[in-house]
Amino acid sequence: MHSDIPVETHPLYQSLSGQTVAIIGGSSGIGLAVAAQAKCLGADLILVARDAEKLRNAAASVGGATQIVADISATAAPLSMFRDVASLDHLVITAGTARLLPLKEHGADDLHGVMAERLVGPLLAIQAAAPLLRPGGSITLTSAQLSSRPIGIGAVMAAAVAAVEAITRALALELAPVRVNAIAPGMIDTPLLDHLLGDNKSQVFDGTAASLPTRRVGLPEDVAQAVLLLLTNGFITGEILHVDGGGRWV
Ligand SMILES: NC(=O)c1ccc[n+]([C@@H]2O[C@H](COP(=O)([O-])OP(=O)(O)OC[C@H]3O[C@@H](n4cnc5c(N)ncnc54)[C@H](OP(=O)(O)O)[C@@H]3O)[C@@H](O)[C@H]2O)c1
Repeated sequence: MHSDIPVETHPLYQSLSGQTVAIIGGSSGIGLAVAAQAKCLGADLILVARDAEKLRNAAASVGGATQIVADISATAAPLSMFRDVASLDHLVITAGTARLLPLKEHGADDLHGVMAERLVGPLLAIQAAAPLLRPGGSITLTSAQLSSRPIGIGAVMAAAVAAVEAITRALALELAPVRVNAIAPGMIDTPLLDHLLGDNKSQVFDGTAASLPTRRVGLPEDVAQAVLLLLTNGFITGEILHVDGGGRWV
């Protein structure tokens, strides 16, 4: 049946017009897809990442964004990354690499590096951003399927992302009425996995796709759509939203 109600008024199309969305990790993969979808809903974007050229290209590809070059795992960087930002509506942190190796292949520096990237850096960035966020605004962190579904290697990453989930629940209370949520992606086709899997990528993707209830691996846009829900639904907080094609259950 035809309706005269404009599609833009549907709750799934909540406008982000006039709202500022900062994405740490916004120059590639999931973060870049979040940027593109948020821009479609009218957001003003701030993209943060380490590589200035990648950031420039990303900003151009989404039709413009403020760019901040910073390393979330560097000791002082997260505390100063928003020093020129007056206010924020939403902070999304997707920055991260993947160190999926056996425990015995981690030296002490590697262990500290993972924790700096996944925990210390994001916590400091949140400290810096919290005073800028409006009530009802949001923070979205990034966990991974690995936190609840071990794969035989990656105990260190599993520990780090499980801690991200604990932080999400705790900060949802501590920072209220700012909302705090996390996404937990399964296998998503991004440049991160190009790098991690190299020539084995299509074989690994085919095998994973065959085992998943969705019969395909994820796209960055699948995760971005979930992030946009967390940004725009004002009644969701303390939530870990799994976007894994059912991968936890197989
Ligand atoms: N793809 C998957 O299957 C998957 C599954 C589960 C979880 N995840 C997680 O989802 C997040 C996004 O992954 P992705 O696949 O979209 O990766 P991606 O395509 O490699 O994008 C990562 C983004 O984070 C930035 N970044 C990385 N390290 C950073 C740092 N120390 N400081 C600031 N920015 C940093 C990168 O830019 P620069 O390199 O220029 O800094 C880039 O913009 C990661 O945390 C990843 O672990 C991914």
